[in-house]
Parts: sequence; structure tokens; C-alpha cells
Amino acid sequence: MPSLAGEEFFLPSMPGKFKDKSHTLHRQFHRCFASTSTMFLWALFLVVLTASYLSFQSFVDSSSKYLSSAWGGIQWEKQVRASAHIHRQNGFSVLVTGAAGFVGAHVSLALKKRGDGIVGLDNFNNYYDPTLKKARQSLLNSHNIFIVEGDVNDERMLAKLFDIVAFTHVMHLAAQAGVRYAMENPNSYVHSNIAGLVTLLEACKNANPQPAIVWASSSSVYGLNEKVPFSESDRTDQPASLYAATKKAGEEITHTYNHIYGLSITGLRFFTVYGPWGRPDMAYFSFTRNILQGKPVTVYRGKNRVNLARDFTYIDDIVKGCVASLDTAKKSTGSGGKKRSPAQYRIFNLGNKSPVTVPMMVGILEKHLKKRAKKSIVEMPGNGDVPYTHANISSAQTELGYKPTTDLQTGLKKFVRWQDLCLFSVNSLCLGYSLYLLSFLYRPA
Ligand SMILES: NC(=O)c1ccc[n+]([C@@H]2O[C@H](COP(=O)([O-])OP(=O)(O)OC[C@H]3O[C@@H](n4cnc5c(N)ncnc54)[C@H](O)[C@@H]3O)[C@@H](O)[C@H]2O)c1
Ligand SMILES: *[C@@H]1O[C@H](CO)[C@@H](O)[C@H](O)[C@H]1NC(C)=O
Repeated sequence: MPSLAGEEFFLPSMPGKFKDKSHTLHRQFHRCFASTSTMFLWALFLVVLTASYLSFQSFVDSSSKYLSSAWGGIQWEKQVRASAHIHRQNGFSVLVTGAAGFVGAHVSLALKKRGDGIVGLDNFNNYYDPTLKKARQSLLNSHNIFIVEGDVNDERMLAKLFDIVAFTHVMHLAAQAGVRYAMENPNSYVHSNIAGLVTLLEACKNANPQPAIVWASSSSVYGLNEKVPFSESDRTDQPASLYAATKKAGEEITHTYNHIYGLSITGLRFFTVYGPWGRPDMAYFSFTRNILQGKPVTVYRGKNRVNLARDFTYIDDIVKGCVASLDTAKKSTGSGGKKRSPAQYRIFNLGNKSPVTVPMMVGILEKHLKKRAKKSIVEMPGNGDVPYTHANISSAQTELGYKPTTDLQTGLKKFVRWQDLCLFSVNSLCLGYSLYLLSFLYRPA
């Protein structure tokens, strides 16, 4: 994944774009206050704003109660049960790990909207700015989804959760993501993607009934492969990063639990997921911010001046693939401690129709942001990135009905719109409040 090292806060404090408009805004402002009736409307607006600020204060109080990492207690159990409540016939109750993350937040919302019961789990680590994770949490809270603050390595907490709720499914999206960071902090990958995965699978194995598990692997397992498109049956034994190696290990570990304990497993190899509420450590996100701030963007180029290309996949398409995986997952077969019959084991690519080069991606951003990028093109250092990814999605198409519909043009337009809303609210209001407000302004479809 091409991205910039040393990320700062994900929202620029004062982008040039808004400075340019300040003159006309000033004039409009005067026009607004010209008559007494609009004056009255503004007063009303302020009252509403104050009232919502007060409710925000109580929201902060209650969310800091959620976040006082101690789990357990009557109140906590009540919140878990209420959040897991199913609102449709034959609906699921799903434990979503990594629910405060990019993909986890979107999948949780989609499931909740159709009436499934959701309990989130996230450790809110600071791999990237946790303010963004808190903002996603407040978005989920406003849809009555409770996120337990805890680590997937906490075996007692998991046992308690399965004790309280008979989860039909586990959507496991918690992980240490990012390819480059593995060189800085290798143990965080072992902790979350290997140890954490085993702890979670142990809890699922012991649960009665056992849930069906859908989890996120990654396109990075294709590593140094040169044959494209990447098909699920291709070799995956030459990873180019520790991140990829832990995802590959995850595929083998889940296979063992499937084989011995009858857990139903679906592994999804995501290809460069992007969109609103996305991850600040990814290139499209940091590029957007840098272009707005007039800072240079570092575009990597492969050997022989070949451009890097990615099968960018829009978040709504990924969500559909995740939901279809849950819908088509067969039941686990080892409830009660004895495997009765072979359980389902599947792996799918979730990508897009065709890859786009990174310079083309920058071009699309320039168009949507109406601003030119200062590009600094450098030779790709050997840091775990692969030059090219392209998914063969024919399996996902036949088995899941997976059909990506959003191209990069359209998807980045939606991302930029979201980014604009962020900037607007951050520039006009205090940060915490603006993120809270944003969770109401912007609701993914
Ligand atoms: N976004 C992509 O392009 C992409 C591509 C391939 C694979 N994936 C995989 O998809 C999944 C979701 O990715 P994302 O982009 O939403 O990343 P994300 O970092 O936004 O979400 C992951 C969430 O998991 C949480 N988490 C990490 N370790 C944890 C632990 N030990 N216990 C509890 N919570 C923990 C983090 O706090 C974070 O909120 C990950 O497994 C990732 O590896 C993502
Ligand atoms: C895509 O994968 C399917 C099997 O899932 C395979 O039959 C087909 O040949 C692959 N297509 C290409 C172009 O590799």
C-alpha cells in the first residue's frame, strides 16, 4: 500500500481551499444578518446548537464511562444485550471485532440497518489517530450499536460475551493493518493477527452454539506473484511483508480450527479498500490531505519506471461482499465439543474490476479537489509494498453474487465529499463536537 510515513493528525487545520472563499463568505455573512427575521432565525439556531452541545456533554460523560476499559457489571451486560437484540425474522446476532475501524464500522451499520443484532469490539489502539475511531463509535452509538472496549486477546472477556449472547456469526475485522508499520512494530502484528486470532477462535470453538466466522485476510497474501489476475487457487507462499505473512498464517490457523473443531470459516482477501471514514494511513487519504494543504505527495514507482497499480475497491462493495458472506455461511458443526460433520471452509477475493495506477489516482483527486498535486516521484524502497494487485473475482461472483459497482472516479468523489464535511465542521467548531456532529451529518448509504 503506497502511503506516507510519519502521519500527523488526519484533518488539516486550515486548508487553502477555505481561505480562498473567506471573502465571499464574509459578504454573505453580512447579508444574512441584514434583517431582523433572519436575526431571529439565527438566535433560534444558536439555542438549538447550545442544546445539542449540552446533550453532547452528557454523551461524552457516558462514552467515557463506556471507555473506562473495565468490562463487566450489570450495566455493561445490559448494554451488550440491548445492542445484540435482533429486529427481523431469522436475523443474526453478530460479534463484529474491529467495529471502530474503517470496514468494521461500515459493516456494523449495514447489518444493524437490516435488523441484525450487533455487538462491536475494539481496543481503540493508536496505530492511527484514535479520534477517528471514537467518531466512528459515536456514529455507531447513534444507531444503538454498543462497542465493547477490549482486546481480542482477552479470553475471559470473550467468554463473558459468548455467555451473554448466543452469537450466530462473528465478523472478525480487528487486526494490525498496514504493510510498512510492520518494520517498525512487528510484534503488534503477532499480537493482533496471530495471538488474537487464536484467542478468538478458541472462544468460538468453546461457544455453544458455535458461531460461523467470516474474517478479513488480505490481497497481500499473493506477495511476489506475477501472474495476474490473482486467483484464490494461486500460490500464497511468498509474502513480501510481515503483515502478509500474518494474514497467510491466519488462513492456515482458521483452516485448523475448521478441520478439528468444525468451525465454519470464510476468509475474505480485501483489495485496497477506500471510502468515507477510511484509514488515514492509506495513500488516497494522506494524498487528499496533502493536496489540500499544498504539501507534496510521494508517489512510488516500481522497477523500470513502472507505475504502481492497485485494485481499489469501494467500501460499499466490500460491505456487500461481507454481508453476502454472512448470508451464505453454513453453520459450524462442532457445537458441544464434538465435530459432527465437515464444516464449510471458503476463501474469496473481494476486489474491483480493473486496477488503477497511483498517478491516475492522483489525477482523479486533483480533479475532485480542483487543485494540482505537487508530486515527488521516487523509486519504491523495499518496504513490503508490491507493485501491482488485480483480483480475479469470479468465485466471489458465483458464490456470493459479489459484483463491484463503484469505479475509482465515483468512489473518490464520495470520499472527497466526506473529507469536505470533516474540514467544514472542524474549521467551524471545536474538534470533538464537530466529529460528533459529523456522525449525524454524514450517514453512509
Ligand atoms: N482497508 C484495506 O484496504 C484492507 C485491505 C486488506 C485487508 N484489510 C483487513 O481488513 C480488516 C479491517 O481493516 P480496516 O481497514 O478497517 O482497518 P482499521 O485499522 O481501520 O480497523 C481495525 C480495527 O481493529 C482494532 N484492533 C486492532 N487490533 C485489535 C485487538 N488486538 N483487539 C481489538 N481490536 C483491535 C483497531 O483499533 C481498529 O479499529 C483488517 O483485518 C485488515 O487487515 C483491510
Ligand atoms: C478466475 O478464477 C476461476 C476460478 O475461480 C478460474 O476458473 C478462472 O480461470 C480464473 N480466471 C483467470 C483469468 O485467471
